[in-house]
Amino acid sequence: MQDFFTPTLGSPSIKTSDLTLTLSSAAGPVDILRGITLTVPEAAAVGIVGPSGSGKSSLMAVLSGLEQATTGSVMVDGTDLVALGEDALARFRRGRIGIVLQSFHLIPTMTAHENVAVPLELAGVEDAFDRAAAELEAVGLSHRLHHYPAQLSGGEQQRVAIARALAPKPQILFADEPTGNLDSATGSAIIDLMFSFHQARHTTMVLVTHDAGLAARCDLILEMADGRIVRESRGRRQRLHEVGGERGLGR
Ligand SMILES: Nc1ncnc2c1ncn2[C@@H]1O[C@H](COP(=O)(O)OP(=O)(O)OP(=O)(O)O)[C@@H](O)[C@H]1O
Ligand SMILES: [Mg+2]
Repeated sequence: MQDFFTPTLGSPSIKTSDLTLTLSSAAGPVDILRGITLTVPEAAAVGIVGPSGSGKSSLMAVLSGLEQATTGSVMVDGTDLVALGEDALARFRRGRIGIVLQSFHLIPTMTAHENVAVPLELAGVEDAFDRAAAELEAVGLSHRLHHYPAQLSGGEQQRVAIARALAPKPQILFADEPTGNLDSATGSAIIDLMFSFHQARHTTMVLVTHDAGLAARCDLILEMADGRIVRESRGRRQRLHEVGGERGLGR
């Protein structure tokens, strides 16, 4: 399969070649990703769309180093993830990769504030709790700092997960259905926040979404079906780049 590298953006941040993922299940091995070759340029925003079960979350798990590819190569930010063991993968992710998972994986025994601050503290950030409070304020949760996940609505938990992913100021941000649990006004405020972070810090962003409007805000849209990328198209932002207009990017 051919790369879809877009020359108007930077050098590759993520590059895979014939990546496959096969997992075992009670019924035998399941081929989940069936040969994915892609390039995500540095500082690009990429939307991954496709039907339920097509492999979007699985692809995100491999690209973010949460899951090891079965075959093929996965280069992320110049590192070959296939060569790394679990500990090395965890070290690689720390501080560099931000991940918002489809189920938020907040730690139930920690408050919203602690969920965001503790990973920062572990990464050696001195003002971890102040920074965490500021990130939670940015997602509209300053009144919920001391709530535990079970005391938060689904959308609030999602916003804590987004604050936690943005707080270390990652070079690459992965988000799986980041607006899936949010009403449209809160969802678009969160997306604005993510895109402004992306633009201010030139963060590479990979978003899984069912929301066509959100996908269209990306530079590139990858459509998956049955473990493969079946269509690549350019989003509105990339088309604006091509006509030379910066105004309105990400809006
Ligand atoms: N650990 C696993 N073992 C076996 N099969 C799995 C495992 N995890 C996922 N699958 C299967 O892999 C396929 C792709 O799953 P994935 O979660 O990547 O889909 P998705 O595109 O994110 O779907 P959705 O839009 O519903 O979130 C599904 O058919 C799923 O049942
Ligand atoms: Mg999914």
